[in-house]
Amino acid sequence: MARGTTRLKRLDDIDLQPGRKIGPRYVVERLLGYGYEGEVYQIREVPTGIRRAAKLYYPHRNPKDRSSIRHAQKLNSLRHCPIVLQFHHFEQITIKKQRVGCLISELCSGMPLEHWIKQHTGKRIRPFRALMVLYHLARGIEAIHALREYHADVHTENILIQPIGVRFELKLIDFYDWGRMTRYKQQMDILDTVRVFYDCLGGAKHYSAQPPEVRYICAGLKRGLILSRFPTMSALRQHLEQFEWRSTLA
Ligand SMILES: Nc1ncnc2c1ncn2[C@@H]1O[C@H](COP(=O)(O)OP(=O)(O)O)[C@@H](O)[C@H]1O
Ligand SMILES: [Mg+2]
Repeated sequence: MARGTTRLKRLDDIDLQPGRKIGPRYVVERLLGYGYEGEVYQIREVPTGIRRAAKLYYPHRNPKDRSSIRHAQKLNSLRHCPIVLQFHHFEQITIKKQRVGCLISELCSGMPLEHWIKQHTGKRIRPFRALMVLYHLARGIEAIHALREYHADVHTENILIQPIGVRFELKLIDFYDWGRMTRYKQQMDILDTVRVFYDCLGGAKHYSAQPPEVRYICAGLKRGLILSRFPTMSALRQHLEQFEWRSTLA
């Protein structure tokens, strides 16, 4: 610890109450969720009444605001990708005498894919619907990869889904920074995307009863086999647009 600084208690729990101000313009309405890096609140911009989301980072997971700033920069560089959460601006606020970095972004109306799966009978999605979710996701992440970026933490709690009519709105949140893009990091996104598909279908318990078209994509979750079939996200997206149906799906 540098000379002259005081050791502050670790802030593990931010726990803001409704009505608390964030910066000069926002008030907290409710907690939306939390995870490893911090807590996310629904906030309202007082002059306009517009609702947004504020992600507050636990200071010990965000030294010198590095994680939050890199996250903001990544979201900004991907702002034209429809699947990416739209970032607005960065704020610093003081909570329990500690400075907390905070990202203000669009408020997504969807729910985490994890919860959506659990709402279905048998806590799993039927194959055709799961394929549609996979297609949306593959197309969305393909656009991110085309900009020489990656997500690095694709899982069912970092995808927000809103079913609208026969389609879905998907938003990918919570990008992870692992330094510059490499082919390996994009391959991780492909494997994680296939894993999300497998989780939508009910995982190991229902795998052997899945139709062959579905099993071809999951490839028993064998990493080498998945990447030989789908070396890029574009290859996966193209496969989903073109494969031939042999079985009759439920
Ligand atoms: N913009 C948003 N709109 C609505 N809910 C959100 C938004 N961002 C995050 N959430 C909710 O908060 C949870 C935690 O956010 P996330 O960014 O994944 O934090 P962590 O990095 O701590 O995992 C998400 O799983 C989601 O339920
Ligand atoms: Mg998360």
